[in-house]
Amino acid sequence: MFPGEIDVQPSIYLDHLGTIFARFGTDTQDSGNVSYGVQTPSARYFVKTAGDPANTDPYLDFDGRVALLRNAVDLAESAVHPALPTLHAVIESPGGPLLVYDWRDGELLGVNRPAHERFRALPVDEILTALDTLYDLHADLDAAGWVEGDFYDGAMLYDFPTRRLTVMDLDTYRRGPHRNDMGRMFGSSRFMAPEQHSLGAPIDSRTTAYVMARAALVFLSDPPPGLYAVLQEATTTRFPSYSAFHRAWLSARGR
Ligand SMILES: Nc1ncnc2c1ncn2[C@@H]1O[C@H](COP(=O)(O)OP(=O)(O)O)[C@@H](O)[C@H]1O
Ligand SMILES: [Mg+2]
Repeated sequence: MFPGEIDVQPSIYLDHLGTIFARFGTDTQDSGNVSYGVQTPSARYFVKTAGDPANTDPYLDFDGRVALLRNAVDLAESAVHPALPTLHAVIESPGGPLLVYDWRDGELLGVNRPAHERFRALPVDEILTALDTLYDLHADLDAAGWVEGDFYDGAMLYDFPTRRLTVMDLDTYRRGPHRNDMGRMFGSSRFMAPEQHSLGAPIDSRTTAYVMARAALVFLSDPPPGLYAVLQEATTTRFPSYSAFHRAWLSARGR
């Protein structure tokens, strides 16, 4: 249903494909990417592009933004999980690639303060179930070699009526252990591991474990004691790997 290539700009093509009902551009995104919600007769899609090639305000220039989108394609092709929107197609255009994902309903838990507070006020069991999903997704990503980068609550969409968690914008995850080549890396300080502030420090699956534990500590005001012990360990003495953290979490959950 989607062509491999088009010879017009993304928005022109999307206007023909269906109705653009949402646009995430420079007014809301500091990434420089421009994304669209598109309604076609059969489905709704979230279409992500690298935006205007002439826009050099963001940290990454157009070529850098395109490279990150290609990385996102690599990630989507290496992990299939209910929390990840399906990537249906990659369309090449004169304005760079169009990544065509499923549209997911939900409220962004970052930036959107009321949604964040509403999520934190849910019954503990419901928050824990969402965390289980987040951690299960990261078990798959970890097994495929992906290391967390710039994860925060702004990468989480929660659909309150159906209790479905969607995790998106994992474009800056990197495959394989690497070293911090930035100093203070991209990310929200509430979630970041110490090594993400330290030039040359190793960034690996232990980092993923730390950041995932931080997510729980951000959302749970009063974690059950067994789980709190796991989260404490993950953010102080640390686990040797993501899988060790995940095993400890599952065992404290009684799984
Ligand atoms: N699959 C999706 N379905 C619905 N909305 C989405 C989807 N993915 C992202 N969004 C929304 O679009 C916004 C921008 O997408 P994001 O991937 O974060 O782009 P950017 O690289 O510009 O940060 C997100 O903050 C979120 O509100
Ligand atoms: Mg984003």
